[in-house]
Amino acid sequence: MNVEEMETERISLRPWQDSDAETLFKYASDPDVGPRAGWPPHKSVEESLEVIRIVFNKDTTTWAIVLKETDEIIGAMGYGASCDCKLPTREGEPIVGYWVAKPYWNLGICTEALRLMLDHIRTTTDIQSLCCGHFVDNPASGRVMEKCGFVPTGEECIDESQYMGKDRPICVLRLELKNNRMNIRLEQSQDYREVENLTREAFWNVYRPGCTEHYVLNQYRTNPDFIPELDFVMEENGRIIGHVMFSKAEIILDDGNSFPSWTFGPISIHPDYKRKGYGLRLLQYALGKAKEIGIGLIQMEGNFEFYKHVGFNLASKMKIHYHAEPREAEVPYFLAQELIPGYWGNREGTYCPPKGYFVADENPEAFEVYEASFPAKEKNLQPGQLPQFCQSCGMPLTKNEDCGTNADGSINYDYCKYCYAEGEFLQKCTMDEMIEHCSQFIDEVNKNMPKQKTKKEYKQMMRGFFPMLKRWRIEKLMKERTI
Ligand SMILES: CC(C)(COP(=O)(O)OP(=O)(O)OC[C@H]1O[C@@H](n2cnc3c(N)ncnc32)[C@H](O)[C@@H]1OP(=O)(O)O)[C@@H](O)C(=O)NCCC(=O)NCCS
Repeated sequence: MNVEEMETERISLRPWQDSDAETLFKYASDPDVGPRAGWPPHKSVEESLEVIRIVFNKDTTTWAIVLKETDEIIGAMGYGASCDCKLPTREGEPIVGYWVAKPYWNLGICTEALRLMLDHIRTTTDIQSLCCGHFVDNPASGRVMEKCGFVPTGEECIDESQYMGKDRPICVLRLELKNNRMNIRLEQSQDYREVENLTREAFWNVYRPGCTEHYVLNQYRTNPDFIPELDFVMEENGRIIGHVMFSKAEIILDDGNSFPSWTFGPISIHPDYKRKGYGLRLLQYALGKAKEIGIGLIQMEGNFEFYKHVGFNLASKMKIHYHAEPREAEVPYFLAQELIPGYWGNREGTYCPPKGYFVADENPEAFEVYEASFPAKEKNLQPGQLPQFCQSCGMPLTKNEDCGTNADGSINYDYCKYCYAEGEFLQKCTMDEMIEHCSQFIDEVNKNMPKQKTKKEYKQMMRGFFPMLKRWRIEKLMKERTI
């Protein structure tokens, strides 16, 4: 039987070969694996070879799950004719089967492999639906199916033909493939990790090397500004493919008073589903719900070309200024929309995003620990990102060689090589001293300036800009904390 190869960042699915018999035996002889799936542990390499030839490569469409990092086979994933099993399948409906070697359980490997195979089935076959069953006493397998969109049919059966199946009820699930069911619902606690991973996938390297939005979300759910009634996930066939959350915010009016307002984000659509209209559908729905609960005004930073489709306009047109830009500027990425007409009226004021959005900057160590709990991903400077600047001296960072280094020798994308090396700042100085230091390079800077600046003007410009750089923001926060 012909099976194609396919892969994710972490695993690949490839056809089984005779030469895999030994590895198959190593893991399939584990008494904790086969009996859970209804087959006896393998007793010899010869038996494993026979399974590769007669079961995997003949009667079913089965792939070896390979861990790319080590190139080792760590499981199997397949589908095939219902044959003589007792699952209540529909006419001609294939069933799905899989296992993962015990040392690799609970790392999301099986879910990832099943999703990969389902994508393949969706795109290359006409299969209408798939059936799957798991022993009731094997809930991990049921969880994998549910995460991939399988829905319990409500049936339970006994299958004596399965190894040790005589007394063990099987729970039956089905996945409808030709009936794309898109659903938006409130996020639940069991979705948290999946949604944070989705957020990480959606933002990785998009605006800057790596991303921090998944950590913002992780921390925000316990923040008093978080609005649980507006924390939505979007599913297609049971798989979470989108997410959006909202936050309370405020605008400081010109008279100094605080005016209640709201913002949203991060909003994430899984990379496989981007540019297909899902983001707008999710947002339209969420904005409708926001209006229903009395939210009058929303502002946020984003791409006008996208957000204009759901009613956003430049905030400056409503006399809402952005904290990090000159008051008179028409800020192209700062957008607003009145959900309740007249809510904002003729007021004028300035908006600063809520503190919760800066958690990764405020707690870099905690963020690092959190980030390390996800599979490693390569950070990169790449075209289309926001311009990157050294967060200590403001120097533009356009290529890896411009950047500093961390203690372990990896690239640090926050700082330039002149400010930061081997995990340390090279100059221990104050922000004013740094401004003074940078002002000596005025001639260099002037080469790229449309209008020449004097040293004094340049220093003044830096005094406006530097407080927003991460190094000085953190320093200020630390000072405030110790006061
Ligand atoms: C079932 C099996 C394939 C899962 O592989 P895996 O790579 O560990 O699966 P994943 O990590 O993708 O997902 C496992 C899920 O089950 C959950 N889980 C694990 N043990 C559980 C338990 N005792 N009760 C409830 N859920 C459990 C995990 O938390 C995880 O869900 P989460 O993402 O919500 O945290 C693996 O356990 C296995 O090979 N078992 C033996 C063979 C088998 O049972 N095959 C299936 C026959 S139907």
